[in-house]
Amino acid sequence: MLEISSGIRHFPGYLDRFHQEAMVETIREIVSAAPLFTPVMPGTGKPMSVRMSNCGELGWVTDKDRGYRYQPVHPLIGEPWPPIPPELLDIWTAVSGYPLPPQACLINFYSDDAKMGLHQDKDEQDLKAPVVSISLGNSCLFRIGGTARNDRTQSLKLSSGDVIVLGGEGRLCFHGVDRIYPATSTLLKSGGRINLTLRRVTP
Ligand code: SIN
Ligand code: FE2
Repeated sequence: MLEISSGIRHFPGYLDRFHQEAMVETIREIVSAAPLFTPVMPGTGKPMSVRMSNCGELGWVTDKDRGYRYQPVHPLIGEPWPPIPPELLDIWTAVSGYPLPPQACLINFYSDDAKMGLHQDKDEQDLKAPVVSISLGNSCLFRIGGTARNDRTQSLKLSSGDVIVLGGEGRLCFHGVDRIYPATSTLLKSGGRINLTLRRVTP
């Protein structure tokens, strides 16, 4: 485990190949019940380059008119999200240090040309719980800063099977994905990267 800065912990290779493959299979099943959607920015309606889905009692969604929020149903099919699978709950238990289980797992699918701008995760009411993030597939260049947008940032490469925890003083740090490195993993047959983000929403 590497402490990147106060409250930000990196577990390189947390999941071995066997567990990465099992996780991808689990995620494929979730996404077949809760299809990927293209999120758009509030206000402008500009589409993001990632595609998303969720599992858990709440899912993170965004659209032009109603903006960033959590809701219990899928925005396209109106059905409850599938439950968070036990293997993800186990990771949360092992690394979060938080007594309550996660309520939301955001599934981000990056094609090799997708990225995610610098942002804070602050749509949750419970900011005492950490954010636990799991990387699968191609590596990415992850950028992480402080709690102000203009704070100095550092960049690190996240590889398939890595886990990052944003907790404590790092809970509200700005972070984003600058780029995906194509063909750096054989886990996903069509390339790209999957990121799973576990969060507690309510105290
Ligand atoms: C996110 O901040 O929602 C995603 C981070 C990542 O893809 O590693
Ligand atoms: Fe985030």
